[in-house]
Amino acid sequence: MGKLVWLNGELCPLEEARTSVADHAHLYGDGLFEGIRIYNGKVFKLDEHLDRLYHGIRMLGYEMPQPQEQLRSVVLEVCAKAEIPNGYIRLNVTRGTGLGLDPKHIDRRCNVMVMVSTLALYPPEAYEKGLDVITTSVRVIPSDSLDPRLKCIGRYASNILAKMEANARGAGEGLMLNHQGQIAECTGDNLFVVQSGRIRTPHPSCGILKGITRDTVISLARVRGYEVSEEILTPFDLFSADEAFLTGTAAEVIPMVSLDGKPIGDGAPGPITRELVEAYRAETDKGVAF
Ligand SMILES: Cc1ncc(COP(=O)(O)O)c(C=O)c1O
Repeated sequence: MGKLVWLNGELCPLEEARTSVADHAHLYGDGLFEGIRIYNGKVFKLDEHLDRLYHGIRMLGYEMPQPQEQLRSVVLEVCAKAEIPNGYIRLNVTRGTGLGLDPKHIDRRCNVMVMVSTLALYPPEAYEKGLDVITTSVRVIPSDSLDPRLKCIGRYASNILAKMEANARGAGEGLMLNHQGQIAECTGDNLFVVQSGRIRTPHPSCGILKGITRDTVISLARVRGYEVSEEILTPFDLFSADEAFLTGTAAEVIPMVSLDGKPIGDGAPGPITRELVEAYRAETDKGVAF
């Protein structure tokens, strides 16, 4: 059928979907979202994404009308109707509708959206050649200001600024450090380095979104016998690495071959990166069928 949106119980084609201008995420960024991929007619890591969304809903105190199981069924139903075998689902939950910051004075019935569409984050050749990354001037929001595990719509203004900086400098992606100058993440991806066969990735306390793809890749690497550690990393660890790669639902697993114009390793995707790209591709066949 094509790209579809389910919004508060109503289903319509993507181009026709409309939401209120007084939606609290439209006015204040007061909403949560998830991006989920569909591979071969199956929704990959559906329950992990729903768990993260519902943890955020609890933390932000949203009055969510649908229990998790019900939203899960809606997602699968919309996917079945859209009939997009390889696509991208965007889930949005916002606090409600009304002008004014104070949730006490708004209509707190959450606005819930399930969009089934498609998304390509990077050009196909970037998965072969790898990405050139720059360090941006944008620091991640400190975790004591906004817990990075909250996938909150409002926080993404800084990621968009970082992405624009990367675009302006002709780079494929932008790295964001935290306020201690430690490596955090890229604009929509977690980061890994490989050094002497060991795989390292920033510890969740560094202000990163604890990515679902990150967790998947950590498990896939460990099953293959690699040592994987979550650590505090600085740019030094990238410049001295043999390989680096990025992970994310939209990004998938993609090699990173340079930082700020300096090659990482020999400046080409490394063997462990390539192995994990393949392992991840094979894993994506294990989604929930609709
Ligand atoms: C800032 C940020 N970091 C990391 C990720 C990767 O997370 P996941 O693998 O759960 O998609 C994302 C994905 O949306 C993100 O927006």
